[in-house]
Amino acid sequence: MRLEWEGKREPAVEPLALPSTEPLLIHQDNLEALAGLAGRMARLVYLDPPFMTGDAFKMDGADAYRDDLGPDAYIQMLYERLVLVRRVLAPDGTVIVHLDHHASHAVKLVMDEVFGRFLNEIVWFYQGGALTSVRRHLPRKHDVLLWYANGPDHVFNPPRGDQVSDSMTRRWGHYADAEGRVPFGRIRREGQTHARLQRRFIRQHQRPPQDDEIAFVMQGSLLRSVWADLPEIRNSPRYAEATGYPTQKPLCLLERIVKMTTRPGDLVIDPFCGSGTTLLAAERLGRRWIGIDRSPAAIEVAARRLSRVDVIRVGEVEPAESPTRPAV
Ligand SMILES: C[S@@+](CC[C@H](N)C(=O)[O-])C[C@H]1O[C@@H](n2cnc3c(N)ncnc32)[C@H](O)[C@@H]1O
Repeated sequence: MRLEWEGKREPAVEPLALPSTEPLLIHQDNLEALAGLAGRMARLVYLDPPFMTGDAFKMDGADAYRDDLGPDAYIQMLYERLVLVRRVLAPDGTVIVHLDHHASHAVKLVMDEVFGRFLNEIVWFYQGGALTSVRRHLPRKHDVLLWYANGPDHVFNPPRGDQVSDSMTRRWGHYADAEGRVPFGRIRREGQTHARLQRRFIRQHQRPPQDDEIAFVMQGSLLRSVWADLPEIRNSPRYAEATGYPTQKPLCLLERIVKMTTRPGDLVIDPFCGSGTTLLAAERLGRRWIGIDRSPAAIEVAARRLSRVDVIRVGEVEPAESPTRPAV
């Protein structure tokens, strides 16, 4: 299926001649910047674009960024950038677009067209905000993260929640030590669980286990595609993490995403980086990163949050020789 809209066309843009170093914070429209990054082999590209809300977002009374494109212009804007994202993505890389009810339904069709390999629609459920002002429909309390792969094999580190399930705690809790480790000696020798864990141990160590050796560690259960366990962040000084930049996302959300989709040393690109949350998550987790934003306020906040950063400002780099032609 193909989505059609008024003025649909492939990107034609002059790529920037960018330095090959990382990390990089690029103050620039992400169209030219993404074109200039072609061939970088990112393991994750995370995009948190304007959501097509029709609003203007302010910081300290001044415009931080505007979200005022109509539906056709909005979809065209994202389409062009997604086509360029494919050119910076490693064959085993994945892309996540973070949206809400305004445009996620239409962008999903665009993602089907550009990437095709759908992985998950992750629902990030958040608390907070008034419930009483909504009279005609249910309160809209989740964002949608559209997750797609570039190729048949992609990096996936299954994420686990912090909470060990009640049934596991009931069954194993009193045999486990303070770190949740259960030794072979506490598992009934004749049972199937012992046999299964013993087979796994022998595969790993080429010998049978002793009674005091660890059979397994109790851990939180595998996360499903609805994430409702993350603490919220509000644009208020009461939240230590809040920078004052509008629509800032929680660091724990981005850390979960970066851990799930990349390995240490991998490159993460965020073309709508705002206050730099993704870049900070990548840095804390030992990943390389490149962030792009065209808002001066965003670049200022992001540069403050990141310890070592090379900022490339508008006008500092020239376009490369040849314009980027329509995607293959
Ligand atoms: C939703 S905010 C990103 C928030 C960010 N994830 C955070 O945690 O702070 C969207 C950002 O996209 C930027 N933006 C919008 N259009 C852009 C474009 N064409 N090129 C570069 N940045 C753009 C805006 O300036 C804004 O900072």
